[in-house]
Amino acid sequence: MKPDISNKILVVDDEENIRWLFSKALEKTGYTVHTVANAEAALEKLQHHDYLLIFTDIFMEGMSGLDLLQKIKEQRRDSYVVIMTAQDTMNNTIEAMRQGAYDYISKPFDLDDIFQLIERVKKSAEALPPVVDTASVAEDFSVGAIIGKSKKMQDIFKTIGKAARTPLPVLITGESGTGKEMVARALHFYSNRANEPFIFINCAAISRDLLESELFGHEKGAFTGAVETKSGKFELAHRGTLVLDEIGDMELALQAKILRVLQNKEFYRVGGKAVIQVDVRVVAATNQNLQDLMTHNRFRQDLYHRLNVIHIHLPPLRERVDDIALLADFFLKKFSGDLAQGPAHLSPEVQQILKNYSWPGNIRELENLIKRTLVLAGRGPIFPEHLPPELIQTAGSNPAVSWEHNLDPLVSDFLNKNREQADGNLYDLLIEAVEKNLFEQMLAQLKGNQVATAKALGINRNTLKRKIDAMDIEPKKKKMDVLKPPSRPHPL
Ligand SMILES: Nc1ncnc2c1ncn2[C@@H]1O[C@H](COP(=O)(O)OP(=O)(O)OP(=O)(O)O)[C@@H](O)[C@H]1O
Ligand SMILES: [Mg+2]
Repeated sequence: MKPDISNKILVVDDEENIRWLFSKALEKTGYTVHTVANAEAALEKLQHHDYLLIFTDIFMEGMSGLDLLQKIKEQRRDSYVVIMTAQDTMNNTIEAMRQGAYDYISKPFDLDDIFQLIERVKKSAEALPPVVDTASVAEDFSVGAIIGKSKKMQDIFKTIGKAARTPLPVLITGESGTGKEMVARALHFYSNRANEPFIFINCAAISRDLLESELFGHEKGAFTGAVETKSGKFELAHRGTLVLDEIGDMELALQAKILRVLQNKEFYRVGGKAVIQVDVRVVAATNQNLQDLMTHNRFRQDLYHRLNVIHIHLPPLRERVDDIALLADFFLKKFSGDLAQGPAHLSPEVQQILKNYSWPGNIRELENLIKRTLVLAGRGPIFPEHLPPELIQTAGSNPAVSWEHNLDPLVSDFLNKNREQADGNLYDLLIEAVEKNLFEQMLAQLKGNQVATAKALGINRNTLKRKIDAMDIEPKKKKMDVLKPPSRPHPL
């Protein structure tokens, strides 16, 4: 009989705290937890024990967590391994998922998430374990670094890692400039087709008449101008990946032909009689809303369902506010190098403006902005005057930014100015200042009416009165404009 492993968990981490945390939390709820400080010791344990789930750190002395994952998967394909790390880069996440990790979690984590994860594993372990193809991949990844620490981007890295192991079609959607092409490239370079062709075609950039022969090729004499036989993109992409970019712009008749290739893996060249068979992984991308196109009968439902087997939606930049500073920093480093100048940095006001802007052109717009400001600012810090005036005027247009975000620079400014002098009373100083401001503004809005102000704020009327006297408060005349940058002229 198989031993019951439903409550045995192995934790591999060189940090004692983490090992202690897992043991303490999980043993309380009835799990048996084994902990080891390195991958070698984990392999030793695995010789004598079976586990429901293995948690491993990536960076440890000796063998890394990713190598451990690979070794475990070579011996026991159906093991559940969860990778944990504080350095959650795109490469680690994709690589871990590609090698068959069950999940990937960033430190610090929430214990509730760990409990949920274990429950999920228990459910999956009851069902049949998936068979994973651990094919080898090219060492030389010529894919650019996709930057992103937001949860949405981390989930996308996971999907890329999982999708890379299969030949299934992928549909990538997202506004212009959100990184669809980058993701399409990553899907290829992390797949077991990485050494085979990667062919990219922009369906919107080629005239309708030519697109069919570009995709499927043509026989000599098939039409005027077809002076010789030519292979199309599907043939060129044989064994590799074909990206159909801007598929939403393709006309219906051609959509039907694409559907046929996806179904039967075969097609005819334009004017050809011989069936051509291909093994191509199709990745389609579009910035159009395919649901809308289908409602207007401009996109085939059946093709949509064929393509939508794996769907990756890239969120607009304004919805991943946490990534804005990270990306800006990445582009600053990248282009400072190009300009042969030392790395520049963003002033706090500029950081704030960038966070508050709505980025209709997404990451491409941010990338171009950084390029342009670097030319203007040179080595020095980038100030609001280096930004285009339109951007400053529309800053504050990002609905995803909460007002709390605006507190960051204010509190940081307060700390910088008061840290030295304040004598252990920073808390009181700041809270009093905020309280005073709140009373002043509310009183101003309610025309000095103290009863209404106390009611609106939900505090006792006498308390308000006491505070007004103690703090010497008067209704505020002018509204504070937190975000407005200094009105220096734009140099362009
Ligand atoms: N997460 C990211 N990290 C780093 N660079 C990125 C990221 N996303 C996009 N970029 C950069 O932004 C630019 C636009 O990306 P990409 O061409 O992949 O977008 P797209 O969604 O295909 O846009 P379009 O719909 O206009 O074709 C590229 O220069 C790319 O390198
Ligand atoms: Mg694109």
